[in-house]
Amino acid sequence: MNSMIYKYLIDPLSNTYNEEVLLFSYIFELDYSTFLLNNINNQDKKSRYNDNKSISNKYNAKLDEHLLKKFEFLRKKIVFDSVPVQYITKGAYFFKDKFYVNNNTLIPRSETEFIPEFILNWIDTHTKIKPTLYMDNIDVLDIFTGSGAIGLSIAKYYKSRIKPNIYLSDISESALTVADINRKTLVPNTPDIRLIKSDLFKNKRIKYIKFDVISANPPYIPRRSMRKLNARVKNEPRIALFRKGSNIIRIFLKQVVSHIKENNSICITETNDNDFKLYKYINKRTKKNHPSFKVSYIKDIYGIHRYILIET
Ligand SMILES: C[S@@+](CC[C@H](N)C(=O)[O-])C[C@H]1O[C@@H](n2cnc3c(N)ncnc32)[C@H](O)[C@@H]1O
Repeated sequence: MNSMIYKYLIDPLSNTYNEEVLLFSYIFELDYSTFLLNNINNQDKKSRYNDNKSISNKYNAKLDEHLLKKFEFLRKKIVFDSVPVQYITKGAYFFKDKFYVNNNTLIPRSETEFIPEFILNWIDTHTKIKPTLYMDNIDVLDIFTGSGAIGLSIAKYYKSRIKPNIYLSDISESALTVADINRKTLVPNTPDIRLIKSDLFKNKRIKYIKFDVISANPPYIPRRSMRKLNARVKNEPRIALFRKGSNIIRIFLKQVVSHIKENNSICITETNDNDFKLYKYINKRTKKNHPSFKVSYIKDIYGIHRYILIET
């Protein structure tokens, strides 16, 4: 049996190495974090492989013929059909939790984790330093919600004493079904979360509200870049990834200024890498129409300008 395991414990030189190890631990119910730590600590692929081999040795009893066949079948989907492993394991790690995902939703990305973290800090400071502020509720919208990753992370780790109303909106009904599954598992006892099907702000349930906080991760990849993308990314929903020309993100950023409160509110939007053309355009336009609003472009951990922040 051992030789079988090693055969399946993955070619350390393959491009899909980490995905295959994740699938391996999923199928055999092994602790992926042990493999992950090993993969992080061992920069050299050969030694990662050897260590993973010894880790899996401990679990020999669990490996059986039937599961090996299943693994082999699913591994082919990853390697040859470029299916993202998260669609097979039906789970993706984001911020502090595991979210259910399927092929109707984008797999939440690590660079997006900055958004809930930023918003939670902002809410914490702004509701603390202004204790006299008249605020009964705080209205938070996660537009383009997909799996609900941003909005539900905010809902789960929200600490302020001021009651939040959380809105998750998306144009895709099937993405909202996924967000609802995540709502039920991750924040089952938070009643004030509303899921709304809406093309941008068109639905009446959000159209007339001015929010304190808006988070947005719109489909920002230009359609013309599609060919250059990794085959796995192309298996994610097109509506979640691509924009025609510069349309949707510009339309959103133009509209959003009338959906945030005039004072003490924010909108943070993820953009394509270093999209200064977009930033300059929005900055100029906002300054002209709302001179008191401040627009800035924040870098991600890799030093790439990524998040456009509008503050009032
Ligand atoms: C990049 S994904 C973001 C998903 C999730 N917020 C995340 O960060 O993982 C963009 C989402 O926007 C939705 N979307 C696309 N066009 C839209 C529109 N016109 N109005 C509202 N949502 C839209 C897609 O269905 C998709 O779920």
